[in-house]
Parts: sequence; structure tokens; C-alpha cells
Amino acid sequence: KPLVVAIDGPSGSGKSSVSREVARRLGLAYLDTGAMYRALTWHCLASGVELDDAVAVEASARALKLEQSTSVEHEFVKVGDLDITEQIREPAISSAVSAVATTLGARTELVRRQREAITHAAKRMVVEGRDITTVVAPTAEVRLLLTASEEARMARRGMQLGGTQTAEQLTSQVLARDAQDSTVVEFQRAADGVVTVDSSDLDFEQTVAVVLRVVLE
Ligand code: CDP
Repeated sequence: KPLVVAIDGPSGSGKSSVSREVARRLGLAYLDTGAMYRALTWHCLASGVELDDAVAVEASARALKLEQSTSVEHEFVKVGDLDITEQIREPAISSAVSAVATTLGARTELVRRQREAITHAAKRMVVEGRDITTVVAPTAEVRLLLTASEEARMARRGMQLGGTQTAEQLTSQVLARDAQDSTVVEFQRAADGVVTVDSSDLDFEQTVAVVLRVVLE
């Protein structure tokens, strides 16, 4: 039977690692929707599309030859024949992605593909992003908002990036991205019926345990 687990949250809330682990433990497919916005951003930058040209960005979204695994065992993101799994995590993409994600026409196209992926997985999937509980899958069996204090989020992001940037640089970049993202999608406050899990004082295993409890109850 269907089991769609929709998880939203800001950068550094731990939602990607937690979502993956929850999918693995429950034997569900996994969709990282942020990777789709990142792939589109990579494609726009690689093909010289101006990110403030909404018409061109939307056209790029529609034409994007995106292939993404939905298995936690073997994750990859490809555009055409190119594997860009690593490239989409680079700082240049992180700082440009909001401009792409705030293009409404591009969102419409990616949301359509996300719903298609959920159907394709027979609705047994963990889907994570910013607008999954509200727009992509508002009827999901489980809807969660994973939050964490600003301090905890910055510490996690800092560890993931391996400390090449200063704490101040990182904080201002992430907060700027959150602010820009928030102009289109509300992901900082839980919508009606969405369970909030605050992971500020929880480690990874504890957060996974709390999420699993919500899913299985
Ligand atoms: O890695 P991090 O959690 O910081 O971000 P991500 O999940 O990879 O998402 C990257 C960007 O994609 C976000 O900052 C948003 O601009 C956009 N995004 C979105 O608009 N809607 C989603 N459902 C997922 C991501």
C-alpha cells in the first residue's frame, strides 16, 4: 500500500541524511528534489542561460534531460550522458540555485516530474525538499518538517563542507539562500497537519528514530 513520506526543511536541518536513512530502513525509494534544482542550475550555468531570464530558465527546465536514481543504494544524477552527482554540490551551484528555484515556470516543471517519480515508485517513497508537504505531495501518508536552530544548522553545514569557508561566510550564504527560497515557498513553518521534528538537540541516530516513530505510529 502507498507510503509517501514527505520531509521538508531548511539547509542543514539534516533532512537529506535522515531521509536517506529512513528510506533505507523502510525499504522505500528516495527522491532528493533539491538535487533536481541543483541539476537544472548546473545545466543553466553550463549552457550560458542567464538565471534572471525566467523564460529561458523555464525552457531549460522543460528540455532538461535529467536522469536521477531513486535508490539509496546507488545514487546518481545525470544530465544527458554526463554524471554530475559531485558537481551539483559545489559552492557555485549552492549560491546560484535559489535564483533558479524562484523561477515559477521551472518549479512547475520540476514539481510535475517529482509527482511522476512518486507514481513511478508506486507511491512508496521518501521525498525531501522545501515544498513537498505543501505542494508536491500534500496528501502524503506522513508529512514532516525537520527543523533545527540556526546554530545547529550552521555547525552541520560547516562539517559537510569540510571547513574551507569561514563560519561567517557560510552562515551568511546559507541564510541568504533560505531568505531567497522563502520568497516562493514557506518551509520554515509547518503547514496544517505537518509534524515538526526539531533536531537541534538530537544526534543523527536519535533524529532517525524520532522520524521512524512518526512514520510507524
Ligand atoms: O543541501 P541543502 O539542504 O542546503 O539544499 P537542497 O535540498 O540541495 O536544495 C537546494 C536548493 O534547491 C534550495 O536552496 C532551494 O532553492 C531549492 N529547492 C526548492 O526550491 N524546492 C525543493 N523542493 C527543493 C530544493
